[in-house]
Amino acid sequence: MDRILIRGGARLTGEVRASGSKNSTLALMAASLLADSEVVLHNVPRLQDVETMLEILRALGASADWVGDEQSLRIDPTTVNQQEAPYDLVRKMRASFMVLGPLLAKFGCARVSEPGGCAIGVRPIDQHLKGLAALGAKIQLDHGYVEAAAAELCGGRVTFDLTTVNGTQNVMMAATLASGETVIENAAREPEVVELAAVLTAMGAEIFGAGSDRVTIRGVESLTGTEHSVAGDRIEAGTLLAAGMITGGDIRVTGVETAFMESTLDKFREAGAEIEATAGAVRLRMEGPVQALQAATAPFPGFPTDMQAQLMAVLTVAEGSSIVVERVFENRFMHVPELQRMGADISLSGRSAHIRGTPRLMGAPVMATDLRASASLIVAALAAEGDTVVNRVYHIDRGYERIEAKLRALGAEIKREN
Ligand code: EPZ
Repeated sequence: MDRILIRGGARLTGEVRASGSKNSTLALMAASLLADSEVVLHNVPRLQDVETMLEILRALGASADWVGDEQSLRIDPTTVNQQEAPYDLVRKMRASFMVLGPLLAKFGCARVSEPGGCAIGVRPIDQHLKGLAALGAKIQLDHGYVEAAAAELCGGRVTFDLTTVNGTQNVMMAATLASGETVIENAAREPEVVELAAVLTAMGAEIFGAGSDRVTIRGVESLTGTEHSVAGDRIEAGTLLAAGMITGGDIRVTGVETAFMESTLDKFREAGAEIEATAGAVRLRMEGPVQALQAATAPFPGFPTDMQAQLMAVLTVAEGSSIVVERVFENRFMHVPELQRMGADISLSGRSAHIRGTPRLMGAPVMATDLRASASLIVAALAAEGDTVVNRVYHIDRGYERIEAKLRALGAEIKREN
């Protein structure tokens, strides 16, 4: 089992390019099932989660593989010959549940394992099912599997009870081949929803309002394949900037659309960072100490829950006390006990964390628990006194491509060993 060793104290400087967006890639891979010909994706990050989704597409009968520069995927959905996504794959990555909508729309039936919860919460799928039922699908739960069937999906109206990113994407994909018009109210506005809508439109879908909380989809007969370069990963970029902040550094992150990072960049400015953002790159400099602040996570365009742990790591060394409220997931403070082992002064009360800044953290052996919690431990370790060993780094490899190589290129003393 790999682990990452970090000796804290180096000030990060230089330029690094963010990889393609993990969450966009996963949705686009699911969307490829809707097409009548090949889909090619470029700027795809080489992540464990992408490998898992490749396994699922192949299990369904599609041919899917890395091609060209090895950062591109070629997916041929025309050989799909079955519509069951097995438990042992879906449980590895809950985003697999996004194959439900495309399989149902394309083949009239689908059997996908319920994804189950994960470290950060129960993560129900009731809204996904509510949306598909609104399109006329007959849904039943059978021994841990969701079975959905519809001779023909008909456009309908669904108002989500809460904002769900993958729920919006699942229903949007199903609606592209439904007969008639579908309206999704209280849709998620995340950039990954906007990018999916753009690619589906390139495939021949008719989608209006993506990026707003009301999305309209007019069903079409069929969708063709397409070629698309995945947007940069706004969360990886934010994580790299957090590393620059906590080390008092001066770094530039390229390959990402900064328009999708506004709430993160605003928070970092509030924490004392000097930030220069162009369309595709952002430079962050820390001229003084980290400033304490208050933050609460929210659906886009609010401060992203996927950046909460990384921001908290930075705030542990701020001047003053901060409050961070996690409003999206019910259990996304798994990083707190590990940060406390590094000397962070954090107290939890329900969904709120109270962080009293301390001059320095201390390196320690720590345990990664979920993807973003692991990233926050790495961010903290970069500024800690002495050595930190982060165990169970497979959590990190799910969502960060060669994180230690990127940080080392910025001057961090970091290496991986198994
Ligand atoms: C996506 O998950 C992302 N994953 C998550 O990123 C991200 O944290 C999340 O959106 C929120 O931005 C991918 O895109 C693959 P939600 P998703 O449905 O869509 C509740 C990462 O680190 N809910 O928007 O599954 C749910 O429990 C991952 O890259 C229901 O109650 O998240 C949560 O509290 C982690 N019923 C809230 O909504 C439902 O049917 C938001 O979840 C669906 C969701």
